[in-house]
Amino acid sequence: MTTAFVRNQWYVAAYGREIGRELFTRTVCGESILFWRTGNGAVTAMSDRCVHRRFPLSEKPSHLVGDTVVCGYHGFTYGADGVCVAVPGQTRVPRTARLRAYPIVEQDSFVWVFIGDPTLAATTRIPRAPWLDKPGWTVVAGMEPLAARASLLVDNLLDLSHETYLHGGYIGTPEVAETPITTEVDEEAGIVYVSRRMADAACPPFYSNSTGLTGRITRWQDIEYTPPCLYLLHSRIAPVGVLPNDDGSDPDAFHVEVVYAITPETEHSTHDFWAVARDFALDDQEVSDYLEKSNRTVVLQDVAALDTLEQVIATEPDGYQELSINIDTGGLAARRMLARMRAK
Ligand code: FES
Ligand SMILES: [Fe+2]
Repeated sequence: MTTAFVRNQWYVAAYGREIGRELFTRTVCGESILFWRTGNGAVTAMSDRCVHRRFPLSEKPSHLVGDTVVCGYHGFTYGADGVCVAVPGQTRVPRTARLRAYPIVEQDSFVWVFIGDPTLAATTRIPRAPWLDKPGWTVVAGMEPLAARASLLVDNLLDLSHETYLHGGYIGTPEVAETPITTEVDEEAGIVYVSRRMADAACPPFYSNSTGLTGRITRWQDIEYTPPCLYLLHSRIAPVGVLPNDDGSDPDAFHVEVVYAITPETEHSTHDFWAVARDFALDDQEVSDYLEKSNRTVVLQDVAALDTLEQVIATEPDGYQELSINIDTGGLAARRMLARMRAK
């Protein structure tokens, strides 16, 4: 069966810090989900629609009482597992009174939720982004709402040649668009790799202002996309000619791990989670502030472009034919992988 979303997969629903003892809601793959932390700190996730008359449990005056949620409309009360424990006006609780509960894993600063058949959750891989929660790395992060389908963001992130044009003055320089890419697809692991290694490139403000490098640089962009949700950009910046040592150590380079989680909200909107982890200037708040502001600006440049594309697609006549070139190899591989996952 083909559906709009890739199901039976883990998706990033939130940053762990977004969820506490307040009722929190987010829609993932068209499903409205209620999140909260129990008294012992565990995140729980269940349907955000009361089984009685659908009142959203995230909506006031619904509220938490200890480890139960009380519906703000007529008072149906649910435990942390989603099972209804009390209804008004009668002592017998109907056996079917339970909210759909979602498997949850908190990892690498993210709250991952499993969308699909919960019995498959335990055997389905959650990709890692360890830099987001690891000593030796400093992280700035955010999430921007995107009024466009997730596949447009996948296209965007797998082809960074657009940095030169859409993000000139931030992360784009002429060399990004000029340098050919290499693409590799690991079908078994379900990963698309796209690399662009620039031996001698201008240093864009994003990296000169954060690293202090002033001359030309060797700039590597190694993308690792695990469909459907997690995208990693391993970025290496060093003075021209400085390469890693034979043993893999790399003390004279600056490393930035750019992480995106691409989570469909609806068929036509997406949660665009972004994080930038660095292994230098760890305690320098000015560098953190700068990278946070710059990366948000860059993300919003993409959001504006993709929101426009969504409108264009929504209003175009049938039969529009895209034209693809070498830079699209990674994006096309990702599309094929997503189409196969969707058809399962
Ligand atoms: S809608 Fe929730 S108790 Fe009636
Ligand atoms: Fe971009």
